[in-house]
Amino acid sequence: MNVLLIGNGAREHAIAKAIARSKTKPTLFSYMKAKNPGIAELSSDVKIGSYTDLPGIVEYAKAQQADFVVIGPEDPLNNGVVDVLEKEGIQCVGPKKELAQLETSKSFTRNLMKKYDIEGCPDFKVFTRIEGIKDYMDSLPGVVVKPDGLTGGKGVKVQGDHFQTIDEALDYCKEVLEKHSSVIVEEKLEGEEFSLQCFTDGKTVVDSPPAQDHKRAFVDDKGPNTGGMGSYTDADHLLPFLKKEHVEKAHEITIAVAEAIKSETGEQYKGVMYGGWIITRDGVKLIEYNARLGDPEAMNVLPIMTSDYVELCQAIVDGTLENYQISFDKKATVCKYAVPEGYPTDPVRDEKVSLGEVSDAEVFYASVDQKEDGLYMSGSRAIAFVGVGASLDEAEKKAQAALSAVSGKVFFREDIGTKKLIQKRIDHMKALFG
Ligand code: AMP
Ligand code: GLY
Repeated sequence: MNVLLIGNGAREHAIAKAIARSKTKPTLFSYMKAKNPGIAELSSDVKIGSYTDLPGIVEYAKAQQADFVVIGPEDPLNNGVVDVLEKEGIQCVGPKKELAQLETSKSFTRNLMKKYDIEGCPDFKVFTRIEGIKDYMDSLPGVVVKPDGLTGGKGVKVQGDHFQTIDEALDYCKEVLEKHSSVIVEEKLEGEEFSLQCFTDGKTVVDSPPAQDHKRAFVDDKGPNTGGMGSYTDADHLLPFLKKEHVEKAHEITIAVAEAIKSETGEQYKGVMYGGWIITRDGVKLIEYNARLGDPEAMNVLPIMTSDYVELCQAIVDGTLENYQISFDKKATVCKYAVPEGYPTDPVRDEKVSLGEVSDAEVFYASVDQKEDGLYMSGSRAIAFVGVGASLDEAEKKAQAALSAVSGKVFFREDIGTKKLIQKRIDHMKALFG
């Protein structure tokens, strides 16, 4: 079996490891825009190229006789890589461009859920002009402004966090409308967030354990938003503040959304439906969907997946997911990123980074460049470390020990996965629910 993986981040390094340990013994080929040393080591061949070079990707997939292609990041999905590969008869784990709008167009997803009467949507409106926005904002208790398009997780602005007044919100809407065709204004939700990464063949939806990401750059959830500084999952496959019924609700909504996409487009969604959810006083609500695994959350769930990842991919492309038993070790995981000093606003670049003693942690390379004399950071999140243990405490200590041994101009969040921060989440929920 020949598997082609597209992507060059830590998430794809985690996917590559999961493919490499499959009992089907596949041959892995990789297409990346920059050479990730971890993925390269596991691959029989590597092609470096742009994610916009669709003919180049098709040519490489054909030359390697790929049985299927796994697409890691959202950019190639947004470029329509699945459409061109499937036209050539090459199957993909990842949705076609129209279906990937689940992530790439926030208005598509919100409108779809509204049209099919699916619960879990906050109050929202989509605007193409500035007229009418102020009146709508005045009717909401708090507002969130979202550009309608891909922004690398950095375009959403929340009242109280990124701006205070309605005038500031309106200024941001104007800015957004200069670059994007529309802007979504929605009700600000209050609660704790969790990520549920689901796999689907368009009919059946299977979950991985829920995770919680940490978007803010600095300890105690301070500082600017990032791509995600770290994340954790718990041994019982819930989270300390999360109940089974919350996960069941998110799962149920995801099934309804998969069905709605089929009705709307006539096509089955194949790949990952990763929901960012928030538990509010009014129940579980959807923040957004992504059409790919989370980064960092993929590094939590893939290392503890005990069912076969390649068989999972095969079931997704064949449409036989209902016969696949997904399973995960009952272990806790903590993932933490080492990122370059100054990240995300003004990161140092081309600085050397070296691993220390990593004995009990797993290492996933992200934005690093392997040169003759070692690893160099290229400006984004550099290396992720994952601890796996019987408890969150044990998993956290393993990740932290490896992280503390890194040398170079890096920083990380010591607090992710610690008792103190998790207690803060529990207290937040208690305060909300009384
Ligand atoms: P998104 O890019 O849609 O995931 O949004 C980024 C972050 O903004 C989320 O992780 C939330 O913390 C926050 N956010 C998005 N939508 C809302 C909302 N309606 N209410 C409160 N916070 C939100
Ligand atoms: N964990 C955030 C993301 O993957 O979008």
